[in-house]
Amino acid sequence: MNTNRLSNEMQSALIRQMTKEAHASQIFLSYGCWADINGYGGIANFLYRHSQEERNHMIKFMRYILDRGGEAKVEAIPAPPENPKNLTDCFNKVFQHEVDNTTSIYELVDLAFQEKDWATWNFMQWFVKEQIEEEKLALELIDKLKIAGGDQASDESLFTLDKALEEASDEVSLPQTATADNPS
Ligand code: FEO
Repeated sequence: MNTNRLSNEMQSALIRQMTKEAHASQIFLSYGCWADINGYGGIANFLYRHSQEERNHMIKFMRYILDRGGEAKVEAIPAPPENPKNLTDCFNKVFQHEVDNTTSIYELVDLAFQEKDWATWNFMQWFVKEQIEEEKLALELIDKLKIAGGDQASDESLFTLDKALEEASDEVSLPQTATADNPS
């Protein structure tokens, strides 16, 4: 009796996403080291925390595959890309990485829809929402750096930005929770 509730194609796609999340975790860890080496301890801390979130995402996919009677598989992770050139490059790359991940998430949603695999479709909605948050968080990094002066930012404003990111929340509010009284 086949107790695997995932199609072969879906199981492979979910395993690929597990690997992508693990890869993202390594990328942010690597950018964190780069920030640390360059004296941005607060930004490094922010990136290390984000790296842990990505690992949590990997675990969620692993757990889901197993819970559906499937075979989760831990695959090799590609090496992280080379270090960013500067903070603008770093934050742009974080944003681009999130956008690319959203594309992968949408592909999984699309596959679930095509297969009428409503359990996976429902599971994936958590990630659709999560990507709105993650893209917003990355956009805020870009905005904060722009306000600080971008590549021309003074040491003082970079010091303030670094400190702010050390203490920044990893959570952002979503448009779904906005009201006229509390729009932000
Ligand atoms: Fe796991 Fe940043 O998405």
